[in-house]
Amino acid sequence: MSLKPNGNYRNLKESYLFFHIARKVEEYRKEHPDLPLYRLGIGDVSRPLCDAAIRALHAAVNDQAEEKTFRGYTPECGIPEFRNAVAGYYARRNVTPDPEEIFVSSGASDELGDILDLFDASSPALITQPAYPAYVDASVMAGREVRFLTAKPENDFLPLPSDDLEADLIYLCSPSNPTGAVYNREQLQKWVDYANGRGAVILFDAAYEAFVEGNLPHSIFEVPGAETCAIEICSLSKTAGFTGTRLGYTVIPKALERDGMNLNAMWVRNRTTKTNGISYILQKAGIAVFTDEGLLQIRESIDHYKENARVLMNALDECGIKYWGGKNAPYIWMACPNGMKSWDFFDLMLNEIQVIGTPGEGFGSAGEGFFRLSSFGNPEDTKIAAERMKLLLVR
Ligand code: MLT
Repeated sequence: MSLKPNGNYRNLKESYLFFHIARKVEEYRKEHPDLPLYRLGIGDVSRPLCDAAIRALHAAVNDQAEEKTFRGYTPECGIPEFRNAVAGYYARRNVTPDPEEIFVSSGASDELGDILDLFDASSPALITQPAYPAYVDASVMAGREVRFLTAKPENDFLPLPSDDLEADLIYLCSPSNPTGAVYNREQLQKWVDYANGRGAVILFDAAYEAFVEGNLPHSIFEVPGAETCAIEICSLSKTAGFTGTRLGYTVIPKALERDGMNLNAMWVRNRTTKTNGISYILQKAGIAVFTDEGLLQIRESIDHYKENARVLMNALDECGIKYWGGKNAPYIWMACPNGMKSWDFFDLMLNEIQVIGTPGEGFGSAGEGFFRLSSFGNPEDTKIAAERMKLLLVR
């Protein structure tokens, strides 16, 4: 018998959402080489790394140039200084993970798929939808059954567990990509109580926590009981502009056990087998981000993106278009005008005003009729895009 490829790939859409959009945009660009494009699509940052990170990167490169300071392999789960720096970041909000509960990663998207290694493929995944498409695709690739819980305007895009819900592995994202909705403490407590009561595990994607304002939780570990039912996956991509640099972290409490197995110990086993750590140079940059200086500098970039979000929200207000998000998240989730389908609206925006967004349907069928705008673009382009949207959409 010849080798059998992973047949689960047959169950995937032909291409990944952002890859598909990039191809469509590239075709349009080739056909219209003289037209400028305004990119509010994929959540890719436009601001450079902060000065503290850049200095740390240079210094770490110099370390690698000298025999005395040169570093070979780093510890697979993270260099202690990095794990301590992340623990210190959590401590600012009175969450006190043991540094050994923090694992370095190459970013949240990689980790959200890799972490599935901890769970038997027979345990279905519950995904609140619309959702970041990698949750679904990674589960499908692993042959895992996926169930959905709909996030919709009627539940403020924040679905909660009910008594009859059957879920074992639960993906939650707050602030949500794509809707920008944020669970408050009481709502997260409901999920934590549900998971503890049932023996489920929550995979909490906190990639956008740095955008949260006021008293809303940044981390599921701000909620009592989360240490026995949750894994938190976070990244410096959106917090500190590391989309192209790649660095993140995952928190797996030592108290998290299922069926007599300790998930923290299992992840140590996994990482020490499947990785040789993350670049020393990048971890040094991450450490610099979590210093007082670094945190002040990344705040400037986040404020910058929040200003972009305000520009876009003002434009939608002027057009009389309903939207969600934008305040505690870098994404604005708007209703497509006149009941349009989201891919039709994508085409309209691209063809008429050269503004690129993300069709809601790309985040699952529950996203149909909606459209996502990213505030990570540069301010000039964002302002022009907003003006163009007003011309196209004003009623
Ligand atoms: C998005 O646009 O949803 C994200 O930027 C994609 C990602 O983080 O991989």
